[in-house]
Amino acid sequence: MRSLFNRYIAFLFVAGLFTSCADENEPNYQYFPDMYVSPGYETYGSYDIFQNEQEAKLPAEGSIPRGWMPYEYENTPEGSANAKANLTNPLPYTEDNLAAGKELYTIYCAVCHGDKGAGKGILVEREKFLGVPSYDDPGRAITEGSVYHVMYYGLNNMGSYASQTTIEERWQIDHYVMSLKRSLEGKPERAFEDAKQDAQSSEAEGEQMTSEEEPAQETQEETQN
Ligand code: HEC
Repeated sequence: MRSLFNRYIAFLFVAGLFTSCADENEPNYQYFPDMYVSPGYETYGSYDIFQNEQEAKLPAEGSIPRGWMPYEYENTPEGSANAKANLTNPLPYTEDNLAAGKELYTIYCAVCHGDKGAGKGILVEREKFLGVPSYDDPGRAITEGSVYHVMYYGLNNMGSYASQTTIEERWQIDHYVMSLKRSLEGKPERAFEDAKQDAQSSEAEGEQMTSEEEPAQETQEETQN
């Protein structure tokens, strides 16, 4: 009985030796260091084996971000005239597209252009912003293509909306702007198109509208004619 007690005391002593020497300010023993220190390279770390000692590499030359589609009309008077004449809206004119366009228009454009598109937005009324045209301005005679072009590049005091909106969103806004133009001109509303095509284009939404290519094809066709 007594020897058991002694062993118990001895065990406590040895256990105490192991635990009491640990320094709380130092990392303790690591049994599986890989769980603490990753053997892989950190994304933006610097390592000798890489060129410029940088782990993060530049994308290969000529690569483009996923979903990004080039816009082929240049930001020049010719590019603008070309887009105005040839570029058309690839999205079907559906209730959904128009409703989405209206929502986006109210967010991005109405402050200047006004809810009706007559160029009397709140900023114009408060004289913070001047020279905003009405969409039925005959001197401008806006088209689907010219509206898209202006959203893409901006025009003088109007900024570009290319970074704030996706390709599809710009075309939705475009439909809404054209519908505002029609009602300013007192024309009847355009009839809605079949929503089936729309389902296809929203499937392509992840790709951000491959249909951007369509207007370019049409341009070619028209120049052939
Ligand atoms: C900060 C105020 C402001 C906002 C916001 C704004 N615009 Fe404009 N917009 C202008 C001004 C100013 C002009 C006239 C530019 C010029 O001709 O010098 C203009 C011109 C236009 C034109 C006529 C271009 C042409 O071909 O003559 C269209 C179309 C247009 N804007 C659409 C839009 C759309 C769509 C949005 C929203 C995505 C928008 N604007 C947002 C100020 C604005």
